[in-house]
Amino acid sequence: MTDLTLSAYHQGFDTQLQELESLDLPVVGKIPDWLSGDLVRNGPSKFEVGPEKYNHWFDGLAKLHMFSFASGTVRTTCKFLQTYAYRKSNLEGRIALGEFGTNPTRSMWGKLESIFNHQLTDNANVNIVELNKRYLALTETVSTTEFELPNLDTVGKFIWDDKLEAQVTTAHPHFDFDRKQLYNLLIKLGPSNSYVVYRVDSGTTTRKQVASINVKEPTYFHSFGMSTNYIILVECPFVVNPLDVIFGNKTYVQSYSWKGNYPTRISVYSKDNGELVAAAETEAFFTFHHVNAFEENGEVIVDLLAYPDAQIVDSTYLTNLRHKNEQPLSKLRRLRMSLATKRVNSETLSDVGLELPRIYYERFNGKTYNYLYASGQNKGDFVNQLVKVNVKNGMTLFWREDGCYPGEPVFVARPESSSEDDGVLLSVVFDTGKRSSYLLILDAVSMNELARAEMPIVVPFGFHGQFFRS
Ligand code: CO
Repeated sequence: MTDLTLSAYHQGFDTQLQELESLDLPVVGKIPDWLSGDLVRNGPSKFEVGPEKYNHWFDGLAKLHMFSFASGTVRTTCKFLQTYAYRKSNLEGRIALGEFGTNPTRSMWGKLESIFNHQLTDNANVNIVELNKRYLALTETVSTTEFELPNLDTVGKFIWDDKLEAQVTTAHPHFDFDRKQLYNLLIKLGPSNSYVVYRVDSGTTTRKQVASINVKEPTYFHSFGMSTNYIILVECPFVVNPLDVIFGNKTYVQSYSWKGNYPTRISVYSKDNGELVAAAETEAFFTFHHVNAFEENGEVIVDLLAYPDAQIVDSTYLTNLRHKNEQPLSKLRRLRMSLATKRVNSETLSDVGLELPRIYYERFNGKTYNYLYASGQNKGDFVNQLVKVNVKNGMTLFWREDGCYPGEPVFVARPESSSEDDGVLLSVVFDTGKRSSYLLILDAVSMNELARAEMPIVVPFGFHGQFFRS
């Protein structure tokens, strides 16, 4: 039930138009001297255009926030991404392109035209990657936008050097640092549908098809798993009617429906030759985020954050988020799949509500690991704590502060770090008391605060960021 009282944190879902250029931030505490580089974060920062409002948190127009660290100081720059969706909307004073949960209002002629000329948005507000020293903003359409560091200026649409075509992708590509490759997934929708796993070899901008899988009812993928040898696709029963997406007669997310009587399907593909190695089914659940995957004693182990169903997609409409609203919680689930028997064992590893998970990715992705960091949620509130979970023994450590709502904690290892958690966590926190945000720096071993850098503005709740060492 939605209570119409505004939530304490509702201003974290308000439009923030202000852009900042190389602004030094006042620091309380001590930033480690070794922390040197740029944290770049992505998220929505404009939730209406003229008189028209976006419906969903995932719809807002993308703004990049950068925090640059050097010798114990931090400065910030933030700018809107100058995408076609952003420029066209501002020019026309209305929502010009359809987003995750919003379609533009159109005249009869416009509706007819859109059937033949349906344009998917390039509003890349989800994540960021570095590819060959180029910086890309990503969303779940295949339209990727390049930007520059350190000024965050938009370069333009990123063009791949290949002929792969699709409508949908994930904004969570994986990097295999041993093979020096990037992996991601495309979803082709139409009269026939397929998932295409691709890789990009270091130094190139060519996507090479690894596997192509025909599918009748494609699922919604926000992320996928990768271990040393395998790509792991977890198909939750939140499935799309492709024609709704192609013709745009529903919003993108309304084209999907929850089929709770379907199983969740886990498929393991070889990175070497794209062959299906094993597949199995388990009970229905919904996930946005994989945490990690690895191989152990003939089993593939997949850790992800699981919701009981896809209700979270509705709970994250802005009207629900801005008002007191019981959010479903996602919990850390471990799927153990035997490659010999194709049996899956499913187990909840922690009872804490978790989202926006991070690990020490560069060294432990695809491998046995101990530590997961995430934004954490208590029942009846939005994400109001940061959590460290030891996935081996379930031990948890917390950081929290009254009236404060932290975003994704990005782990940065200390150079020459001696243990998996030897480093810091960086998280942008909205302080409802001060009505402004700050960048929080935690010791990842103890989850104790080392320092905070105070922002002069509210940074709207965003999604993902990456740290680029200098
Ligand atoms: Co995500």
